[in-house]
Amino acid sequence: MSGGPRGGVVVLVSGRGSNLQAIINAVTNGELPADIRAVISSEPGAPALARARTAGIPTHVVNHRDFPARDQFEQALMQRIEAYRPQLVVLAGFMRILGKAFIDRYTGRLINIHPSLLPAFPGLNTHARALQSGASHHGASVHFVTHAVDGGPVIIQAAVPVLPDDVPETLAERVLMEEHRIFPKAIGWFLAGRLSIEDGRVLLDGQQRPEQGLHHPAAGHVPGAG
Ligand code: GRF
Repeated sequence: MSGGPRGGVVVLVSGRGSNLQAIINAVTNGELPADIRAVISSEPGAPALARARTAGIPTHVVNHRDFPARDQFEQALMQRIEAYRPQLVVLAGFMRILGKAFIDRYTGRLINIHPSLLPAFPGLNTHARALQSGASHHGASVHFVTHAVDGGPVIIQAAVPVLPDDVPETLAERVLMEEHRIFPKAIGWFLAGRLSIEDGRVLLDGQQRPEQGLHHPAAGHVPGAG
């Protein structure tokens, strides 16, 4: 995108914000040509807000507890987002499940990072569940958000080995390092117009990525890095 306008992004967060930080760092060091226009948190005390402020990014809180129903919460959220006219909306540890109106509005330009090799382990507590399942590998996925929770088309995945002494925390840490690597990459691809969706699959530069689908632990393949 050199020379052109940089892609506008709004990031939604609820917590720690380490993925937000990875995105900010990638922009700062020139790896990711993006314009992070705002960070919006569903939690007033989210440490992610301080990270955004430090980077000089406008922040807002849209606290779901201030609204009688999810619908109103999402309307308020959309209003905030729209003020920044983003090309892409990024869920980076955003812990609210989004409803139909929101997803319909941003379909095709709403992406999320999930700490598992989807379709394995959608939902919460993925690291503990991966350990419990005896999987040899675990990892992270960046995917387009659709109405199926954690079920949208996968853009990129990264796998890590599960080690014999792992507890959920050590495994989470290893996965998180990969999250920080693949999330800015996926955002860059999107903003550069390199992604498309065909038959529910994500194409990069019109091609299916060869490693897609090979990361499912149950598939019995030895995964490579995403
Ligand atoms: C990450 O593990 C992400 O995959 C999940 O929520 C966590 C957010 O961590 N969706 P952080 O707030 O980015 O540090």
